[in-house]
Amino acid sequence: MSEPDFGRLAANARRVLVANRRSGSSDWDGRQFDFVCPSALRYPFQWLWDSAFHAIALLHLDVELAKQEIRCLLQAAQPDGFIPHMVLWERSRFKGVLAGYNLALSNPYISGITQPPVLARAVERIYAATHDDQFVGEVLPPIQALFEWLAAHRDGDRDSLLAVVQPDESGLDASPKYDGPLGLTPGSGSLVEPLAAAMRQLFEARDRSAEAALNVFEVEDVMFNAIYADGLRCLSRLIALVGLPDSDSDRLERRSSAVVQALMAKCWDEERGVFWDLCGREEQQLRVLTVTSLFPLILDDLDEPVANRLINEHLTNPAEFWTPFPIPSVAIHEPAFDPEFRTRCVWRGPSWVNVNWYLYWGLRAHGHSLIASEIANRTFDMLLRGGQYEFFNPLTAEGYGAPDFSWSSLVLDLLAGEGKLE
Ligand code: GLC
Repeated sequence: MSEPDFGRLAANARRVLVANRRSGSSDWDGRQFDFVCPSALRYPFQWLWDSAFHAIALLHLDVELAKQEIRCLLQAAQPDGFIPHMVLWERSRFKGVLAGYNLALSNPYISGITQPPVLARAVERIYAATHDDQFVGEVLPPIQALFEWLAAHRDGDRDSLLAVVQPDESGLDASPKYDGPLGLTPGSGSLVEPLAAAMRQLFEARDRSAEAALNVFEVEDVMFNAIYADGLRCLSRLIALVGLPDSDSDRLERRSSAVVQALMAKCWDEERGVFWDLCGREEQQLRVLTVTSLFPLILDDLDEPVANRLINEHLTNPAEFWTPFPIPSVAIHEPAFDPEFRTRCVWRGPSWVNVNWYLYWGLRAHGHSLIASEIANRTFDMLLRGGQYEFFNPLTAEGYGAPDFSWSSLVLDLLAGEGKLE
């Protein structure tokens, strides 16, 4: 790869962010919106974790746009702290697109589930780039309220681990780790219809009662909890930085440690050297090896021996995750591994830039800069070959899903991390 290649990647990533910007006045109380949607064609609405990733990418375009992305999203924060995973700013305009989603709403403009709280990391990054105390003072209360909401509504057994109540809540919609809980038995063809049917059952159970829904699907998801623990620590540091009460900062730090301890106590498998999600009240481990199982690597306080096992035995193992274009969302030896997107369902094998971005910074925090750089370089190569798609064949770099996908612009932050951004 040459300097012009890096320049081309960066220019394209910035172009996508600009092209996917949507602004106007919504049918929803005439509120003003201005944000970057994931894809102008397939995802014209605002998504929670996408927007956090967009804000980080936008730091390499215009820091004011990064702040605006977060401010726009926070308009959907509810009085009880809940922030939905989707905000349907232009609902009537994109009725047709909406009809194709498996979606349950809590009012006509917002969805009824949330998504991983990447927001805290995004705001910490915005602060590092701008030192804007006023911005942090403005956005911290609703973000802290979201973390309180999660603790109050997604930790029924009070073990510090949050449970997702629907696959989409983790952001990993059709991951094969959920096949068991959803009762899916994949064959060789499309899984779109069986998945839609399983989701309908879930929504019907939810309509009956929240309790009934929990009996159908309740997963303490390792990736969600790793992002949650990281987010608590980001908030704790931010509170200290902007001079808010130390007691809040200490409390959030303690909560973060409690989540990491719970991950170690309940999800860590000493024999296999990976973490497993827990399903249902019985907390049965879901032993399907996906990139989720490596996600605690993003936590800088994860014990070194544990981090080293994740890296040496799994991440860099060619029989599992070390493919030509890593990191595959599912280990290649899993029967469900679908690198070519034959099932037409997401998160079943292809590599995603947001995953690479998180693990890149995790590896660096653990002192594994060489492996981090290798992942960054292969990500650059993947996007140069495949285009800025939503996800990629981890063996060939062919791009699938939405073209011009916004969070793949996180490549800007990887370029900056590698000292390759002008
Ligand atoms: C897909 C992804 C989800 C993402 C959404 C919008 O549903 O699985 O994680 O938030 O698209 O990009």
